[in-house]
Amino acid sequence: MAYSKSSCVVALALLLFVALAFTANGAKLSARYYDKTCPNVQRVVRSVMARNVAGQPGIAPAVLRLFFHDCFVNGCDGSVLLDSTPFWDSEKDAVPNASLRGFEVVEQIKSLLEHDCPATVSCADILALASRDAVAMLGGPAWNVPLGRKDSRAAHKDAAEAGLPSPQDNLTALVSAFRERGLDARDMTALSGAHTVGMASCENYRERVHGDGDIDPSFAETRRRNCPPSGNDGGMAPFDEQTPMRFDNAYYKDLIARRGLLSSDQALYGSGGKQDGLVEMYSRDGETFARDFAKAMVRMGNIRPPKGTPVEVRLSCNVVNN
Ligand code: HEM
Ligand SMILES: *[C@@H]1O[C@H](CO)[C@@H](O)[C@H](O)[C@H]1NC(C)=O
Ligand SMILES: *[C@@H]1O[C@H](CO)[C@@H](O)[C@H](O)[C@H]1NC(C)=O
Repeated sequence: MAYSKSSCVVALALLLFVALAFTANGAKLSARYYDKTCPNVQRVVRSVMARNVAGQPGIAPAVLRLFFHDCFVNGCDGSVLLDSTPFWDSEKDAVPNASLRGFEVVEQIKSLLEHDCPATVSCADILALASRDAVAMLGGPAWNVPLGRKDSRAAHKDAAEAGLPSPQDNLTALVSAFRERGLDARDMTALSGAHTVGMASCENYRERVHGDGDIDPSFAETRRRNCPPSGNDGGMAPFDEQTPMRFDNAYYKDLIARRGLLSSDQALYGSGGKQDGLVEMYSRDGETFARDFAKAMVRMGNIRPPKGTPVEVRLSCNVVNN
């Protein structure tokens, strides 16, 4: 016999250890996760973000949106960053993808970090930090980012198509999409305030500005100029017309003025009751919005991949390790 019973037990134990070590588990995230292993991580992320945002301010909202798309599909696991392979289609190609951008900034950060502290910082954590910095650079709140996420070994295009809220969603659908991920209506309302920055393309607001729904007529007219009934799908409009690159509470004032850009934005206001109360509160009280937004970002960042999902620290964010 080449193998003794005890070496068999050792091998089994080892296998179990490897399986546990490299699958998603419930380990708690911590803001100090890289204190010893990569003490410069926050500085590196911030400086690359600052350089990119200085040259191209639109990168800030783009990166924030990437984090949302990452967390909503199988948890915050960097899956949104993966390119397609023969084994899966990229989430970048899922239908609600329109104009996901900012991937190259994440790669820049990753390659600097691979130089500083190889195979240590996950792409999912890079996105969490970069989106916090994006919000701060736009004039929004700052918060401590719990860290220690791991990266998935696959992407999930189908889950992206099924799971991401659509710009046509009504309030019920929005509330339940967030609730499924452990986020309540208040979190949902605060997180939606991210639409106080950035742009959307005509294909996503066409029906709203050409319909006869709940919309300010002069706002609809302005928006129709760059978004005809057909064609110019890519015609861009800012979510918030007055301060499109400022992370303030103008989004909620817009909703009350019936100037929400997407149907899903306007759905947050007008149903009456508690939901309207949230929008009114944030429209009046920018500080409470900023505080709630920061808290809700931490909660969204806590959405974990299902237990047992194979994970790793990717060496390059667009491909899984060999
Ligand atoms: C509530 C459900 C949501 C829906 C239906 C939704 C949908 C959309 C759509 C359709 C766009 C425009 C894409 C385009 O046409 O290019 C967009 C942009 C954006 N979304 Fe959302 N979103 C939601 C929630 C969120 C959340 C929770 C965040 C972040 C916390 C977020 C951050 C952004 C940002 C920053 C942009 C602008 C991106 C840019 O300018 O590049 N969204 N969203
Ligand atoms: C989004 O998905 C569509 C449909 O799969 C694809 O044709 C398009 O290239 C994708 N857009 C981006 C920016 O990846
Ligand atoms: C909301 O949308 C869902 C489909 O996404 C639909 O089943 C439901 O009836 C709608 N609710 C209201 C109140 O319109």
